[in-house]
Amino acid sequence: MQNIYQQMGDAELASALQELEHEVAEVKARGLKLDMARGKPAPDQVDISRPMLDILNSSSDLTDEGVDCSNYGCFEGIPSARRLAAEFLGCPVDQTLVLGSSSLLIEHDICDMFWRTGTCGNAPWSAYAAAHEGATVKFLCPAPGYDRHFGISAELGAENVTVPMTDEGPDMDEIERLVAADDSIKAIWLVPKYSNPTGVTFSDEVVRRLVGMKTAAPDFRILWDNAYCVHDLYDETDELLNVFDAAREAGNEDRVVAFASTSKITFPGAGVGFVGASPAVIAEFSRHMKAGLIGADKLNQLRHVRFLPDMDAVHAHMKRHAEFLRPKFEAVEQKLTEGLGDTGCATWTHPRGGYFVSFDGPEGSAKRVGALCAELGVKLTPAGATFPGGNDPRDTNIRIAPSYPSVSELETALDVLVLATRYVAAQLAQEERA
Ligand SMILES: Cc1ncc(COP(=O)(O)O)c(C=O)c1O
Repeated sequence: MQNIYQQMGDAELASALQELEHEVAEVKARGLKLDMARGKPAPDQVDISRPMLDILNSSSDLTDEGVDCSNYGCFEGIPSARRLAAEFLGCPVDQTLVLGSSSLLIEHDICDMFWRTGTCGNAPWSAYAAAHEGATVKFLCPAPGYDRHFGISAELGAENVTVPMTDEGPDMDEIERLVAADDSIKAIWLVPKYSNPTGVTFSDEVVRRLVGMKTAAPDFRILWDNAYCVHDLYDETDELLNVFDAAREAGNEDRVVAFASTSKITFPGAGVGFVGASPAVIAEFSRHMKAGLIGADKLNQLRHVRFLPDMDAVHAHMKRHAEFLRPKFEAVEQKLTEGLGDTGCATWTHPRGGYFVSFDGPEGSAKRVGALCAELGVKLTPAGATFPGGNDPRDTNIRIAPSYPSVSELETALDVLVLATRYVAAQLAQEERA
């Protein structure tokens, strides 16, 4: 389907371009300075967790079910925090660890363990090249996806292999075909609920196929980053199948390693990170981590569980977050529909939770749109960042992160994105004719 600029006659297109150039010059003169780049909660949103900081003081009881949180010990995390972790992750309490403030660091550390020492009696992933004539270990990367995931596997020296995302999750036909034939494929990065950046929640069928599929590698691992598991925007929420139950039923319990944190619940970067895995994998990961960690910050764990003692409290707190976020997501939908709805120049996702909207412009447009937005004072996540190596093969995808700016700043930033997309689409239409 051609977009409106492709459909125009030459004279009409020339005059549309002239008008758009004029609008671009006007916006440039305004000297805007807006940021839609990273998925951070806004300062007023973060403030709703401030009462947590008053929970502990010098006269507080610093024990949790008999565990002294003010001293060394209890490597696996305090009992109340592990119970909460089990609910977040959907696995038994004794299959959880509550560690430091970052789930991303836990993801990094467990991949590092797979790489250096292997998992469940299999050879270290780093040894694969030596044993297979220099072949590299591969990680599957559904894209658009989370750039920092791709960064972890790239930094280890693995090859990141892009697989497409669909509106039900990653493309399972492609994944099943790849993993069945290639034992160098050792892992897949996944954000199963309100995915970063598409907002997609995986269907039950996708979850069942992921845990049940035949893999050539016996030590294949699903890196299940459920970062947005409680981040609903509406009362009617997306439902995600319990991956641990499904994996157990499929006889592939060791395949799943799940992560979550309270980063976008309490304080980003100062929350509590969780990991859950099979008894075998959690035991080997504990051994690995204990080499360098006596115990994580239990006072922070204690503060968190006193503030959010159970899932009812978590959901109530998340409803307050949603009040900040919902108008922002709705502003994105409204501005994009008004500005680009009937143009054929763009498509975008309509998430019911999470932190992002995934936007696709015409082929070959994203880098130019990003550069133009930057020139006009609107910072976006760099085009291509949602693909391994920063390489979006069709150069269409832009991640919109609406959470940080105020609604009015966001509306201005979206007007700029709409203008830039229209302008670049018109330029591309003209270049096609040249
Ligand atoms: C999918 C995903 N995982 C992990 C993180 C980071 O989490 P943490 O702060 O717990 O390291 C983010 C942050 O944006 C994310 O989007």
